[in-house]
Amino acid sequence: MTPQLSGRRKPTLAVVGATGAVGTVVLELLSTREDVWGEIRLVASPRSAGRKLMVRGEEVEVVALSEECFDGVDVAMFDVPDELSAQWAPIAASKGAVVVDNSGAFRMDGDVPLVVPEVNAHSARVRPRGIISNPNCTTLSMIVALGALHAELGLTELIVSSYQAVSGAGQVGIETLRDQITKVAGSNLGTQPGDVRRAVGDFGPFPAPMALNVVPWAGSLQDDGWSSEELKVRNESRKILGLPDLRVSATCVRVPVITTHSLTVHARFEREVTVDRAHEILRGAPGVVLYDNPAEGEFPTPADVVGTDPTWVGRVRRSLDDPTALELFVCGDNLRKGAALNTAQIAEVVAAELGQSGPSSG
Ligand SMILES: NC(=O)c1ccc[n+]([C@@H]2O[C@H](COP(=O)([O-])OP(=O)(O)OC[C@H]3O[C@@H](n4cnc5c(N)ncnc54)[C@H](OP(=O)(O)O)[C@@H]3O)[C@@H](O)[C@H]2O)c1
Repeated sequence: MTPQLSGRRKPTLAVVGATGAVGTVVLELLSTREDVWGEIRLVASPRSAGRKLMVRGEEVEVVALSEECFDGVDVAMFDVPDELSAQWAPIAASKGAVVVDNSGAFRMDGDVPLVVPEVNAHSARVRPRGIISNPNCTTLSMIVALGALHAELGLTELIVSSYQAVSGAGQVGIETLRDQITKVAGSNLGTQPGDVRRAVGDFGPFPAPMALNVVPWAGSLQDDGWSSEELKVRNESRKILGLPDLRVSATCVRVPVITTHSLTVHARFEREVTVDRAHEILRGAPGVVLYDNPAEGEFPTPADVVGTDPTWVGRVRRSLDDPTALELFVCGDNLRKGAALNTAQIAEVVAAELGQSGPSSG
């Protein structure tokens, strides 16, 4: 059962992984969004224990992950690698916390809801294991806009190519690209086969140089040549939209951008669509900004979108060969809506629920 909050006590929040790429943005958001929390506890590895981080204008000391961290915690956000979430989220839940997990450990489990508040907030109330999953950043960077179009037009197929930022691979991804940029800056590299590869040396978490390059790979190798990231886009989109048979084909590509994923989307619907109708839907959709005036050079790019909350949509066109399909370009900050913001929004939904009567645990 989900515990109720007694009296007027504000819920206690634990942020597990507070020192990471996502955790850092979580702390920023907790400092700027409406403050619904009582105590905020910051948790990371023993390496970070004792470090002081700023949240809500105050320094808070990081503690090492342990069972005791979850004593008295109402909501625990997990922003740590999959294997740590798999081990520790059930422990936090068993101690009475509602877990909001950013990792891939539970996303496709039938008894764990996968939640995007603008699309399926209601799903967060049914959480038999006390765990709610946050979708992966690539799916999240497009799904708010697609959820809005689906609600009006009925989605039947998605063909997606991603242009993913290096911060999707964590803090180490950011450091790798910055280091490589320094190594190639001011050179004439990028003119001979392999010259960039030799110059940058260390590829970090990527299979090829990221500076001056585009890499058609994200995640691990799965059956028949698909990458895990491509299968996540397919499986998670289906689950969030409640469309288990949706046709989805994704190609995930990493580009030399620090933060903000972009996607080209070919979306097919049940009936004919027009650009005007799509514009109208997107203009009215919470969490979406329509920025679509190519005559004036107005379309979203990662350099302009980074650090913002919404999903930005531009380049809306009706497919030339299919009047039921639209072509879109979508950008979303993978660390904000793609991770930390969505987690914060889910946690706030839970906090509001804990403050009311009658939450359901199953
Ligand atoms: N980056 C994205 O765009 C993105 C988007 C959506 C979801 N996610 C998911 O969010 C999670 C965090 O990603 P990230 O990019 O923030 O990773 P990251 O930058 O590598 O940060 C990892 C965090 O986990 C902590 N950690 C590592 N080992 C630990 C241990 N043994 N005990 C306790 N804490 C430990 C680290 O603490 P120390 O600093 O002390 O090592 C750090 O706070 C991952 O599951 C990732 O797949 C990431």
